[in-house]
Amino acid sequence: MSREKRKLDHIKYALEISDRNTELGFEDVKFLHNCLSPVNPETVSIYTEVAGIKLATPIFIDAITGGTDNVTTVNRKLAKVAAATGLAMAVGSQYGTVKNKLSTKSYTVVRDVNPDGILFANVNALATPQHANEAVEMINAAALEIHLNVAQELLMNEGDKDFKAIVKNLKVLQDAITVPIIIKETGCGMAREQVEELMSLGFNCFNVAGVGGTSFPAIEGKRSKCKRHEKFADWGIPTEWSLIDINHLKKDGANIIASGGIRDGMQTAKALALGANAISMAGNVLKDVQKDVNKAIANINDQIDDLKDIMVLTGCKKVSDLKKVPLVFTGDTVNFIMSRGYDVAKISNKRK
Ligand SMILES: Cc1cc2nc3c(=O)[nH]c(=O)nc-3n(C[C@H](O)[C@H](O)[C@H](O)COP(=O)(O)O)c2cc1C
Repeated sequence: MSREKRKLDHIKYALEISDRNTELGFEDVKFLHNCLSPVNPETVSIYTEVAGIKLATPIFIDAITGGTDNVTTVNRKLAKVAAATGLAMAVGSQYGTVKNKLSTKSYTVVRDVNPDGILFANVNALATPQHANEAVEMINAAALEIHLNVAQELLMNEGDKDFKAIVKNLKVLQDAITVPIIIKETGCGMAREQVEELMSLGFNCFNVAGVGGTSFPAIEGKRSKCKRHEKFADWGIPTEWSLIDINHLKKDGANIIASGGIRDGMQTAKALALGANAISMAGNVLKDVQKDVNKAIANINDQIDDLKDIMVLTGCKKVSDLKKVPLVFTGDTVNFIMSRGYDVAKISNKRK
């Protein structure tokens, strides 16, 4: 199977397969309405910071594609949405392109369309420092995303299964890369223990990318036409559970991005309330731009407006205020909180 065909397959199946949103978890979190909100709509600020980078909006378009000239049009459309909405944007993995010295057109188009935009480069955890630096330079990226995708590689026939090498190589990258690094999952979530291990290596920005939206096990199951692989379609930690888990890190100072099935302003607000500095989205934006770029722009603008309204209704003037509003937990999330040994009332009232 050629890399080019694989990239096209990922888009094909990501468009065909629905989100796993039964697993998302945000339906188990409720805000309490603030009937004395002191916040006037025009004073709400949604400015945030991720990995030391200032973002006008706490939402960005996450890594989707690149690596064959055939997907240049997709990246051009995504970049148009990012430029029109002012969102930062990550490109898909550049690893194969820098390693095999292939055409960079499908990535550089993003910078051409959005010359002043905030862009994130993307490589896998086995990239060398030289690969990673080339990926950053290719698009003049503000940060580097390093993706973790054990489930995908495991279930992909041609996957790289040298999992033992990951942590060792991450340390090499941590020491060698000068732009901020975001360690991201790709739809299976992150647990507290692994984030603590990554923090001990010196990383401090994490994108949980939990189960709930795009599922690479489902995509790889379809690609390989293997029924056994499809059983793993819902494998992973729901996005909301990952956020709760990471609220209990032993050390402070982690920068959290929430993703994995976040599709609207309410889920965005809940993720920010659960401790995220920003949220990112991929599968839904891909689906939207393939139908209509203007509709994709309108959907994001609606999401931003809904987030601002929720901030008014909960008495929050700035994004970080959401971490202090009371939350009520129900359903399976309460079981999750208890089985991890956490205190429901404590998280309900104050999060990191
Ligand atoms: C077609 C497609 C390709 C993707 N390729 C990459 C990739 O190359 N690198 C990466 O870090 N994540 C990749 N992702 C994962 C997303 O960045 C994101 O982490 C994941 O889809 C969960 O977010 P979502 O539920 O909003 O889609 C891809 C997602 C899609 C839909």
